[in-house]
Amino acid sequence: MNFEKNDHMKSTEIREKFLTFFQKKGHKVVSSAPMVIKDDPTLMFTNAGMNQFKDYFLGDSIPEKVRVCDTQKCLRVSGKHNDLDEVGYDTYHHTMFEMLGNWSFGDYFKKDAISWAWELLIDVYGIDKDRLYVTVFEGAKEDQLEKDTEAYEIWSKLIDNDRIIDGNKKDNFWEMGEIGPCGPCSEIHIDLRPDDERSKIDGKTLVNMDHPLVIEVWNLVFMQFNRLSTGNLEKLPQTHVDTGMGFERLCMALQGVQSNYDTDLFQPIIKMIASISSKRYGINDDIDVAMRVIADHLRAISFSIADGQIPSNSGAGYVIRRILRRAVRYGFTFLNMNQPFIYRLVDILIETIGQQFRELEQQSDLIKKVIKEEEASFLKTLEKGIKRFESIEVNDNKTVSGSDAFEMYDTYGFPIDLTQLLAQEKGWVVNLDEFNSHLDQQKSRSRQATQIETGDWIEIFKDEKEEFIGYDFTSSKIKISRYRSITKKGQKLYQLVFNFTPFYPEGGGQVGDTGYIEDSGVKTNILDTKKENNLIVHFVDRLPSNLEATFNAQVDEIKREEIANNHTATHLLHKALRDVLGDHVEQKGSLVNSNYLRFDFSHFSKLEDEEILLIENTVNQYVKDNHQLEEFRSIPMEQAKKLGAMALFGEKYGDVVRAIKFADSIELCGGIHVPHTSKIGLFKITSEGAVASGIRRIEAITSDAALQYYNQSIEKLKDLKQVLKSNDVLKAVEDLILENQKLEKKIDQYNIQKAVQLKSHLQENLQDYNGIDFIAYQTDLDAKSIKSIAFDLTNSNPNLVLALASNIENKVTLTIAVSKQLAEAKGINAGLIIREASKEINGGGGGQAFFATAGGKNPKGIDNAFEKIKSFLI
Ligand code: SER
Repeated sequence: MNFEKNDHMKSTEIREKFLTFFQKKGHKVVSSAPMVIKDDPTLMFTNAGMNQFKDYFLGDSIPEKVRVCDTQKCLRVSGKHNDLDEVGYDTYHHTMFEMLGNWSFGDYFKKDAISWAWELLIDVYGIDKDRLYVTVFEGAKEDQLEKDTEAYEIWSKLIDNDRIIDGNKKDNFWEMGEIGPCGPCSEIHIDLRPDDERSKIDGKTLVNMDHPLVIEVWNLVFMQFNRLSTGNLEKLPQTHVDTGMGFERLCMALQGVQSNYDTDLFQPIIKMIASISSKRYGINDDIDVAMRVIADHLRAISFSIADGQIPSNSGAGYVIRRILRRAVRYGFTFLNMNQPFIYRLVDILIETIGQQFRELEQQSDLIKKVIKEEEASFLKTLEKGIKRFESIEVNDNKTVSGSDAFEMYDTYGFPIDLTQLLAQEKGWVVNLDEFNSHLDQQKSRSRQATQIETGDWIEIFKDEKEEFIGYDFTSSKIKISRYRSITKKGQKLYQLVFNFTPFYPEGGGQVGDTGYIEDSGVKTNILDTKKENNLIVHFVDRLPSNLEATFNAQVDEIKREEIANNHTATHLLHKALRDVLGDHVEQKGSLVNSNYLRFDFSHFSKLEDEEILLIENTVNQYVKDNHQLEEFRSIPMEQAKKLGAMALFGEKYGDVVRAIKFADSIELCGGIHVPHTSKIGLFKITSEGAVASGIRRIEAITSDAALQYYNQSIEKLKDLKQVLKSNDVLKAVEDLILENQKLEKKIDQYNIQKAVQLKSHLQENLQDYNGIDFIAYQTDLDAKSIKSIAFDLTNSNPNLVLALASNIENKVTLTIAVSKQLAEAKGINAGLIIREASKEINGGGGGQAFFATAGGKNPKGIDNAFEKIKSFLI
C-alpha cells in the first residue's frame, strides 16, 4: 500500500474525496438521514445507509434522482445488526459509525458499481491492489439462488482470479432485517498486515476470519429481492445498487494505522480521556478497552441526543441509556472515574466530526447537560449496587447465586461481567447458568410483550397512487389497494392502504385520524392511521366484506378540528417560547391529540410563573389577532429556509417540503392546521415541568377544553365561597390557617398537661405483679406523648412493665414498655409479647425487647390484651 502518498490524508479529505468522486459520476450528494428512526416499527435506528431508501427498492415510492451518494450516521446496537458487545474489545467495530454509500435506483447495476468502487480505491485513494480481496456470492440452494457469475466476470477483469473468493449466504447475501429488500453482495476486504506477516500467511485465508487487520471495507449489494414474512424471496420490480463503506476503517487504511481508534477520528478523544483519567493508552489491555468503549459510545450518545433521542426507560431511549451506562461503567471500573467526565469530551468530539454534522455543535450545551446528568445518576446507582453486592451471602462453594447476579443486573444495571469482576476480587464465582436462565426468562417475557407479527401485503388494485388528500378533504370515495394482517400483543388487526386517503397518518407529533369507511350502509371503523415508511396504513379490527368495493371514507371531523386547534397552538407556543425565553429553545418532541398538546423543548431552568403567564398571553394574542394560515404545500427546502422556516433536529426532510406560516411563526410541518388562529379560541397552559436534564415539558389545552377548564375553576371557587361563607376566599383561608395554628398550640399545651397528669397517675398506681412493677392503662393521649411517658418511666424505674392502650375513633394503639434492666435480667421481650397481645385487638405490630407498639381495630379487646400481657410476666 502506498502509505507515503496517503499518510497525511485527513478524515475530512477522505470523506470529501468519496462524495466528489460519485458526484462526478452523476450522483446527487444527499444528507445523512437521522440516526434515530421515527416512522418504521421494524427499526429503531438507522443501521445502514440504505434504510432511508428502502421504499425506492421496494417500488413503494419513486426517487427524484436515480443516483445518490452520502455519508450516513449509523448505529448497530439492536436487532439483526448488533455489534455492541464487540465494541472496545477489537479495533474495528463501532456502535455509531459513518457509512459512505452510493446508490442506483433502477439505474446502473453490477458493472458500474464494481468498476467505480475499484477506480476510487485504486486511483483516487491509491490503495495497493495487492492488499485487496473481493468476495462474490456462491449461491444458496434453500433459496434457489445461483452463484453470482455476473459479479465474478466483472471482478475478474479487474483483479487476479485467485483474489476473488466465493462467499456464503451469511456473508454475501445482504438482508436489511428478517423481511425487506435484499440481494447478493460483493465485499471488498483489505489486508493491512505488515509485509513480513503477509509473506508468511496468505491474506486470502484470513478474509472473514475476524482478523483485526484483514477486514471488510466496502460492501456492494445488488438489490434484487424482497424477503417476505413467509421466508420466500420475491423479485423486486427493478434492480438496484446499495453500497456501504465503513468510513472509520477506510480512514485506518489510508492513514497507515492499525486500529480505527488510531485515526484522527478517535485519537483526540482518546488523548483527552487519558488526560482526564491520568492513565495511558496502549499499555494495559483493560484500560485500552475502556478508553475505546468510552470514545466510541460518546459518539453514539451525542448523535442520538442531537437527533432528539434522550436516554429514557423504554424503546430507543433505553438503548441509548444502556450504551451510556456501559461507557460510565468501563470508566468507573478501569479508569477509576467516579465523577461524571464523559460530557467533558463533547467539545473534542465536535472538533473531530462536527464540521460534517453541524447538529452536534448547535446542540452541544444540551448534549453535555444530558450526558452529565445521566452519568451522575448512574454513578449513584453503581454505588448502591456495590453496597448491595457487599451484602450478598455466598454458599459453601463461594458461589454467587444466579438470582443475586440477576438482581444486580436487573435492579442495579450491573452487567454480568461487572458482577463477576466484583466476585473475583473476593475469591468467589458466579453461577452463570442460573443467571442465564433468569435472563432468558426475562427476555422471553419481554419478547412476548412486544411481539408484532405481520402478514404479507395482499394486493387488490395495482398501480394505485396511495395518495394523501387530507389537507383538502375529510371525506372521499376510496378503494382499498392492498391490505395485510397484523398481530400485536395477541390482538389481530388489519392494515388497509387506500388509493386516496383523507385520513392523516400519525406524524410530527400529531395523532392519526380516526373515522370510518362505509359500503352499502355498513361501516368499518378506522381505529388509527399511521405512516409506515411511505405507506399510509389504516387500522381496522375486521375486514369489510367486499374488499373491492368503492367506499365512502369519513374522517371524524370534530376530533380533526380539535387536533388542528392543538397543532396550530403548538406552533404558536414554540414561537412564544423562543420570544420569551430565547433562541436556545429547540423543540425536542411533541404530542398533539384532540384533548391536549404536549411540547418538550430545551431550556435549562424551571419556568417562572411570570414567564408562563407571558407565554400564555403571547399565544392568546396570536389567537386574537386572527392570523391566516399561509400554507406552502410543496416548496424547495432552500426556499423554505429563506422564508425562515424552523426545521427540527433529527427529522428527515426531502428536497421539497411543506411550510406552515402564521404571522411570524414558520415551521416545516406536515400536520393539520386551523385556517385562521381565532378558531383556537383560547389557549391555557395546564402544566410545566422537567422531562430530563435540560428538557422541559409544557402541557396545554385550547378552545372548548380551555373554556371548560376556566368554568370548572370558577365553579370550584364558587363552592369554596359557599363552604367558607365568605366572598373573600383568600382572607377566609388565611383566617382559617391562623385559627388552626392557635388551636394546634392549645392542643399541644393540653397534651403536655395531660401527659404530666398521666405520668403521676401511673407512678402512683403501680401494682406489684410477680415482683414486677406493672400497670395497664387506657388513655386518649397521642402516640408521641405516650412514647415519651413510657421512656421517662422505664428509665427512672428499673423494674417496670407498662402497658398502655389508646382508642381514637376505633383505631387502637397498644404500647408495651419494659425497663432495660428488667428485659435483660428476666428475658421479658416487649416485641414478642405485643405480637400475641395485638391479636386481641385484631391487629399486629412489633418492636424491640424494651419498647413495642401495635395497631388494631378492636377496642373491645383492650382488656383481653392487657390480660395477655400479664400472662407473660410470670
Ligand atoms: N446495505 C449494505 C450494508 O449495510 C451496503 O450498504 O452493508
